[in-house]
Amino acid sequence: MGFLKHPLTLALLVLGGLYTVFAHVLNPPLPASLLIQYMVICTVGVLLVVTFDNATATRFVTPLLALFGSPHLKALRFAAFTAVVAGTGWLTYEAVKPSIVSPVELRTVHPAPPSSLKAYGNTYNLLTLENPYRTEFDETSDEYQEIVAEGAGLYYENCMYCHGDLLDGAGHLAGAFTPRPINFQDVGTIAQLQEAFLFWRITKGGPGLPVEGTPWVSAMPVWEDMLNEDEVWKIISFLYDYTGFEPRSWELEAKSGEPETEEPAPGGELDEEAVDAIYTKRCSQCHGDDGDGLGIAAERMYPAPRDFTLGLFKYKTTDADSEFPTDVDLRETIREGLPGTAMPGWKTILSDSEIDALIYKIKVFGYWEEETEEDLELTPIELGTPPEVTPQVLANGRVQFEKACVQCHGEAGRGNITSGKRLKDDWENRIWPRNLTRPETWRWTVDAEDVFQRLSAGIPSTPMPEHSTNMSIEDRWAAAIYVMSLRDTATPLSKGDSVIRAVRVDGDLPGDADDPAWDNAPAMTFRLSPNIIKEPRLFFSLNDMVTVRALYNADDIALRVDVDDRTYSVPGSELEAQYALDDVTATRDAIAIQIPAALTGTAEKPYFRQGDKRNPVNMWYWQAPSQEPEQPATVEIRDAKGQDKPPKPRTDSAALSATGAWKDGRWQVVFTRALETESPGDLQFNKGVYTPIAFANWDGLNGEEGLRQSFTAWYWILLEPVDNPTKTMGMAILGATLAGLAFLLIAWRARRRF
Ligand code: HEC
Ligand code: HEC
Ligand code: HEC
Repeated sequence: MGFLKHPLTLALLVLGGLYTVFAHVLNPPLPASLLIQYMVICTVGVLLVVTFDNATATRFVTPLLALFGSPHLKALRFAAFTAVVAGTGWLTYEAVKPSIVSPVELRTVHPAPPSSLKAYGNTYNLLTLENPYRTEFDETSDEYQEIVAEGAGLYYENCMYCHGDLLDGAGHLAGAFTPRPINFQDVGTIAQLQEAFLFWRITKGGPGLPVEGTPWVSAMPVWEDMLNEDEVWKIISFLYDYTGFEPRSWELEAKSGEPETEEPAPGGELDEEAVDAIYTKRCSQCHGDDGDGLGIAAERMYPAPRDFTLGLFKYKTTDADSEFPTDVDLRETIREGLPGTAMPGWKTILSDSEIDALIYKIKVFGYWEEETEEDLELTPIELGTPPEVTPQVLANGRVQFEKACVQCHGEAGRGNITSGKRLKDDWENRIWPRNLTRPETWRWTVDAEDVFQRLSAGIPSTPMPEHSTNMSIEDRWAAAIYVMSLRDTATPLSKGDSVIRAVRVDGDLPGDADDPAWDNAPAMTFRLSPNIIKEPRLFFSLNDMVTVRALYNADDIALRVDVDDRTYSVPGSELEAQYALDDVTATRDAIAIQIPAALTGTAEKPYFRQGDKRNPVNMWYWQAPSQEPEQPATVEIRDAKGQDKPPKPRTDSAALSATGAWKDGRWQVVFTRALETESPGDLQFNKGVYTPIAFANWDGLNGEEGLRQSFTAWYWILLEPVDNPTKTMGMAILGATLAGLAFLLIAWRARRRF
């Protein structure tokens, strides 16, 4: 045990302990630079302590001296020498080799609120502010429940897109944002907060956060601009009622945060009343109280929620002659939801017996609950035997695809209608064929067998026809297998990785998108969200993803931005006339890149949409041509200082050039700019520096312009430093040699003491 009290052991234990805490216990972990700083400070501290008096200092160095000098410890000395040389070499190598980890961004999720708040022309004291409805009415009273119901309506109209129809933070646009919208069902969020805190967060949104809440990345809108005070309190009442949490109050700190269990136990018998209650709570906001698809949230929804009274369903495994899906099909839809639409998956919320009871209710709405599957003559789609995937099958698949699918799904499968038809669904709404290269946007279909079923039976209520009479089973399998191969032509969404790596090339940068040089640049795909954040709001856009590649040489940087856009909006062109919507005046398609006007050197970024007063941004704005009036494609640099004023075009944008072309349902635009420019308002690109970058898109067909746009969150672009192996290895060997020499020198001096 005496060995444990030795100052050297103690020093090592303390430093080891601190390192463990800094590097592994703290969450999020410290960035490497800070970790090194802290460790250096701690080492100096420990050395000061052990050398405080002579006796301890001597005890501290004795074993070290022995290691370096004692003739009995030769083997150990040799081992230590090797470890020091190899270790230093390795550390130097790690430190000098070019690295590509994205910077850590620390964010406080619940920063301290201000003590008072100015909103709606009043000043509120947040320490005493209370929900007026909760003080006025008893929570169980009808009056209060009426408030909650109104709050629900407002929630589904405004918040659902991000915070989800289940209040779980998984709204259908949530994936486009970092940080993600908050999950209110989690015990760590509203259950821990005062209602006054929510009032502050909702009225002031992301931009109202203090610096530690990183206001520049939060997509949380400033609702003070769009909802009145009463509406905000109604939504707050709804949030607590729906989740079953009690708001935290200053007096009753001890109130429990556990949700009440109000759902009937899974598997238990459900009477009609219980089923009605579940339907009202979970489905009616969209599908309507009477199942007619006219719920309070339905108005802004595309596609619209299903009208159950028609007994018409899109997704089924029964053949084209069968009117209805099987119960198994409906269960699948309800459990998994329909990705790309507002229809959520319910498997984590509803038990199987609850789902079965809802299926019965759906049948009641459509008057088909009395009939059994035999009465209804539901026949499964005949599958035959799936073939092996061979080049012949794929070639036949392409032939079938050209015959039967291209007219709607387009040459490359991106959903650009080539037949010239204006497709409509049974309700006379315009409808767009799916982009078959992007399976993450498909609703129900997962594998080749599903595609086979879809094309065999068609998609009822939509123009997608059945192909069971005009295509053999063999040909249908070939088409299905070919469709599955189309996903290889697109890059999947970049999950987790947020860095666009610009690759260095020698010689000229590619002038257009077709150049094979682009194959060397890794492609990154990000989600676009329509602007539901600030008026004028946009609730739906057909274009939902952007793919980016970057290359640079000694002088310039080139970014290729691809946006799958089914519709070519060049006003006056033939194609544009074919795609045009009845009630919308088309604008010109446009694509923009946004970067900060300057790097601040701190974590602070400009607000992620058009910057803010303190942190302006550069927008590289490219606009497609127009035939009527005749205008060429244009590109310009715009300076933006926030969303309140439109971005200001430069008088001279010569530093930036761009070429764009639309083909088979996709715009590809190549932006080229000098790495360094003369203008003081421009960001200057440097190698190895992480630079924030974001993207925006305007779909002309939809009449999108100005703030009516789709955009991404902030990502990073990094001009990859070129790895120079001679330099990296040279530095490593130099480091190792120096460490070795130092060791030998100390050993040589220490020898003389023994
Ligand atoms: C565009 C997406 C979006 C919409 C729409 C949206 N939010 Fe948010 N919200 C977020 C994001 C992202 C966060 C997390 C970042 C933050 O805290 O600012 C958040 C955070 C919050 C928080 C903070 C919760 C906490 O634990 O600190 C509250 C409360 C909130 N939202 C309420 C609402 C309400 C109420 C509405 C509708 C009136 C709404 N949000 C609409 C994106 C959205
Ligand atoms: C937030 C809105 C929303 C909620 C809540 C919602 N749905 Fe839907 N639902 C939709 C939309 C939108 C569609 C249509 C999607 C499409 O046409 O591609 C749909 C379609 C459906 C379909 C038809 C699938 C098909 O094959 O045609 C069923 C069945 C369904 N929903 C059941 C339910 C049930 C049961 C609940 C409640 C547990 C529910 N939905 C809750 C939005 C919603
Ligand atoms: C007349 C136009 C038309 C033709 C021809 C057509 N489709 Fe479609 N297809 C559509 C439309 C419209 C949709 C989207 C329906 C919706 O959004 O509800 C669709 C959707 C799909 C889906 C998506 C299903 C899902 O779960 O999201 C697949 C897969 C598909 N079609 C495959 C095919 C194949 C393969 C062919 C050729 C054999 C084909 N389609 C022919 C119009 C067509």
